[in-house]
Amino acid sequence: MSVIREDYSLRELNTFGIDCTSKYFISIGDPDELLSFFSNFPFGDLPFLILGGGSNILFTGDFAGVIIQPDISGIEILEESDTHVRIRVGASEEWDNFVGYCVNSDFGGIENLSLIPGRVGAAPIQNIGAYGVEVSECIERVSAIMLDDLLYKEMENRECLFGYRDSIFKRQRGKYLITHVLFKLTKQSIFRTNYGNMNQELEKYPSVNLATIRDAVIGIRSRKLPDPATTGNAGSFFKNPALTIKDASELKKEYPKIPVYPINAKQEKVSAAWLIDKCGWKGKWVGNAGVHKYQPLVLISNGKACGREILELSLMIQKSVFDKFGIMLEPEVNIV
Ligand code: FAD
Ligand code: EPU
Repeated sequence: MSVIREDYSLRELNTFGIDCTSKYFISIGDPDELLSFFSNFPFGDLPFLILGGGSNILFTGDFAGVIIQPDISGIEILEESDTHVRIRVGASEEWDNFVGYCVNSDFGGIENLSLIPGRVGAAPIQNIGAYGVEVSECIERVSAIMLDDLLYKEMENRECLFGYRDSIFKRQRGKYLITHVLFKLTKQSIFRTNYGNMNQELEKYPSVNLATIRDAVIGIRSRKLPDPATTGNAGSFFKNPALTIKDASELKKEYPKIPVYPINAKQEKVSAAWLIDKCGWKGKWVGNAGVHKYQPLVLISNGKACGREILELSLMIQKSVFDKFGIMLEPEVNIV
């Protein structure tokens, strides 16, 4: 039986390291127990929040409700052929441990997503992406509990409405509790190495394979992104804004150096880091909240910041980018 804790510290449970509490906290390890917990929800109208590794969340104060942290482990190979493997993974497995397991087993597809913090259950929420790959490319199905009608649901990839940092789970926050993710990975040597300076980084290695790609990505990320173990952060605070091709090309005329990437036939993505950089924010601090000196899309804490300080800095950045470029940045981080 799981224990309900009261006034529970969240400091170690969010990568910003915000010192706050949850009125109630419970960790539940069995999907049926989770279902029965929600069926007999013992907290009336109190709000609830599902928490993974806390690496994409900003707590702006104490949470006056109940936090539920699923504790569903397990990496299970369901099917393996000469070319593919299907693996079912519990929501609370650490994402990067799973990537390491796949690379060691020669299962390809998610190696470019090495060193992303958090848990497997959250990976589909914002469709994690890095170095030219999005996790949705390798997800076959997501198993969830629908919290409105309390039924198990198997969501096929197309039902998840995956997009850039987007999915049905992100759009309808609080409606789904993800219990497992089913991945389809390849045993063929298909590598994606065209993003940024990856090919250049790979020249240091005698050959290109899953292990060297993982190592190269870890190398690039470690040099560029702050480590939450020493510097509180939640990765990119904002999404790269999507503009119509016409708006993006007008912006390019005015600022020829702005990095722009394709999304689809109608839209292009503009580098939010560049926009923030050009507003002069790189390396700046406001009280205990700062803008990272190498990657200005990442907001950081000096260890003492409260959630409101980070939020206020993000609002100042949003305003200055809007005033200069007419673009409203949208937070990627879940603000609670
Ligand atoms: P949490 O922060 O705990 O939760 C995130 C959201 O998902 C919340 O809304 C929560 O309610 C919900 N949620 C969590 N688990 C479940 C569940 N089982 N069922 C239903 N809802 C759930 N992201 C990228 O995409 N690419 C990157 O390159 C990247 N780099 C990062 C680098 C650093 C240093 C950091 C700190 C973060 C980075 N991130 C990146 C963001 C983050 O790691 C991912 O979004 C990650 O998937 C969040 O996982 P989590 O378990 O910590 O989720
Ligand atoms: N840039 C600047 N100034 C800087 C740093 C970067 O102008 O100081 C510009 C550069 O021109 C560069 C561009 O930003 O071309 C891209 O930098 P990076 O490769 O870091 O990509 P990003 O768009 O800033 C995205 C993701 C990251 C992901 C990287 C690598 C979003 C919101 N962020 O960052 O994801 O790791 O690509 O693929 O899409 C996260 O989501 O938390 C996250 C870290």
